[in-house]
Amino acid sequence: MASDNILSRLQNKRILLGITGGIAAYKCAELVRLYKKAGAEVHVVMTKSAQEFVTPLTLQALSGNPVHTSLLDPEAEAGMGHIELARWADLVVIAPATANFLANLSQGKGDDLLNTICLATKSPIALAPAMNQQMWASPATQNNISTLKTLFSSDRLNWMGPAEGEQACGDIGPGRMLEPAQITELSASFFNEGIFSGQHIVITAGPTQEAIDPVRYISNHSSGKMGYAIAQAAVDLGAKVTLISGPTNLSTPERVTRINIKSAEQLLETSLLLISTTDIFIASAAVADYRPSEIAEHKIKKVDGEDQMIIKLVKNPDIVATVAQHPERPFTVGFAAETRDVKTYAHSKLERKNLDMIVANDVSNTNIGFNSDNNAASIYWPEGQKELELMSKTQMAKEILLTVHATYSKSRSATK
Ligand code: PMT
Repeated sequence: MASDNILSRLQNKRILLGITGGIAAYKCAELVRLYKKAGAEVHVVMTKSAQEFVTPLTLQALSGNPVHTSLLDPEAEAGMGHIELARWADLVVIAPATANFLANLSQGKGDDLLNTICLATKSPIALAPAMNQQMWASPATQNNISTLKTLFSSDRLNWMGPAEGEQACGDIGPGRMLEPAQITELSASFFNEGIFSGQHIVITAGPTQEAIDPVRYISNHSSGKMGYAIAQAAVDLGAKVTLISGPTNLSTPERVTRINIKSAEQLLETSLLLISTTDIFIASAAVADYRPSEIAEHKIKKVDGEDQMIIKLVKNPDIVATVAQHPERPFTVGFAAETRDVKTYAHSKLERKNLDMIVANDVSNTNIGFNSDNNAASIYWPEGQKELELMSKTQMAKEILLTVHATYSKSRSATK
């Protein structure tokens, strides 16, 4: 049985499963299911003969992605063509790999979609051969295998089996495809375990917009850069990441699930919906503390003779404090954006909001904080503190997460 631990390495990984035409192709439905269960993203590529054994529709339903079958399909090439697929994959797995496929690969053929992907990818390729034992033992197949071993280094081309045993044709011997659970576990072993492997990190980012009327709102200068950088770094460290984002001009970091919100109330609602599956909550969003008490149904018009207009504001919910007080509270990290007395205010927020950690930045300095690519910050938690000198937000995101990890893992082992 595969341990859950090793399978968690497949979280967020991109597996390109190439299916060639052998009877073991029917087992690929289970293989795709196991990859998905482990949190991998899967694209399936099928050769023409593979489609005689199992339908693309089945694999499309299980993988949640269109199945790729043709090299010369203009529609497919306009979407995700062979080069994009080759670049997309973290790992290419060919299961089953028939004798014919091994022959084609050893000759560097580029006459169908799967062959071209194998030629074009820089990622490791794993082969799970499946064929009659006599075909496996044949000098031609063995010669192709030797050629492949000479052509590709062992970190580029890997062998998963074959196993020995009873075959579909009644023969007994080597040539059986490994079971889907074994292939899944071997696939996981290609990846190092990130420090946040198996953890779900939810990050809030960007500004909120609090509507005044259909065309106006109250907001702030947050660009989302800090939160998006944390989201990217968290994925790189192995976490499953959900980014709850206010309106920004940034593209979603790779492999991050993004949920768009506008107001503080929507941010609270979304955070609470996710709370039971959240391990770590990082609140970098710049949330408006107040919102208009009423949103006008129509655009507010100027009134002749009145030089002033008063908008009544009411307090918004405090999202990070609500999360930190929840019975299912995750490890909760807040930010403090201050313009003076940074340390005092940050400590007071840490306590008042019941946080595990707070990242304080001085937003009076226009070279850091809001909208800049750089930041400088102090991190405080009940037992310690750390200074982060001026650096890029990308670098800072990693530093923050490493600090979070050290305290988070201590708190987890204390509660075990
Ligand atoms: O987005 P960038 O342009 O990259 O800029 C980054 C940043 C300056 C916005 C970021 O580094 C930062 O400091 N974010 C926190 C902004 C903020 O709202 O700080 P605050 O001190 O007002 O709030 C303290 C904490 O409470 C924050 O974690 C905030 O998300 C949270 N909060 C605040 C109000 C509220 N109603 N609900 C909250 O959850």
